[in-house]
Amino acid sequence: MRSNYVERAEKFMKSFVRNYGHPFGCKNIAEVRDMVERYNAAHKRIHVSYSYGVSRCTLILSDYVIKWDYDAENVMEWGGCKNEMKIYAKACKMGLHNVLAPITRIKVYGRFYYVMPRCTRTAFGDKHHDLTYYIGEAQMWGLHNRLHLIDLHCENWGFLHGQATVFDYAACCE
Ligand SMILES: Nc1ncnc2c1ncn2[C@@H]1O[C@H](COP(=O)(O)OP(=O)(O)OP(=O)(O)O)[C@@H](O)[C@H]1O
Ligand SMILES: [Mg+2]
Repeated sequence: MRSNYVERAEKFMKSFVRNYGHPFGCKNIAEVRDMVERYNAAHKRIHVSYSYGVSRCTLILSDYVIKWDYDAENVMEWGGCKNEMKIYAKACKMGLHNVLAPITRIKVYGRFYYVMPRCTRTAFGDKHHDLTYYIGEAQMWGLHNRLHLIDLHCENWGFLHGQATVFDYAACCE
């Protein structure tokens, strides 16, 4: 039986770190690109890509992503990804988790990484920019006023099994 995506992510990341080291502290994204290129050259059957935002870097595989905060110093402290874990737990209690991509923490050779199912990107253009169009006003209200999410621009959500899903919900104003 095929193992679930978190198990596969853990296995992948262990082999990645064993061969190329921890990608932490790679404020210079060229280092991550170099690691990924070397990985892809050595593994013809698996293709990894990467993406990054203001505070985090993400490795993207077929159906999951692995992310971490750039700040190596604070990686064990309360950071962006940790905040996302906290928000996800809150969303579960509030019944708002269906519009968030679940986040799971894994430990790989002493360091934490965070796994999410991979969402496809949003369709850019006209009403498709608007998350409210897909999830409705009530859930949008909940994300804003109960979870206090502040960064719901169209680069931060996509589709998971056909449902509009926020995958970057680390930023909140609480
Ligand atoms: N679950 C996911 N599915 C698909 N792509 C993802 C996922 N999570 C992250 N990404 C990709 O990685 C990028 C960076 O991740 P994320 O948005 O979580 O980081 P960030 O640094 O907090 O971003 P921001 O610049 O919005 O603050 C995203 O813009 C997206 O391209
Ligand atoms: Mg983002």
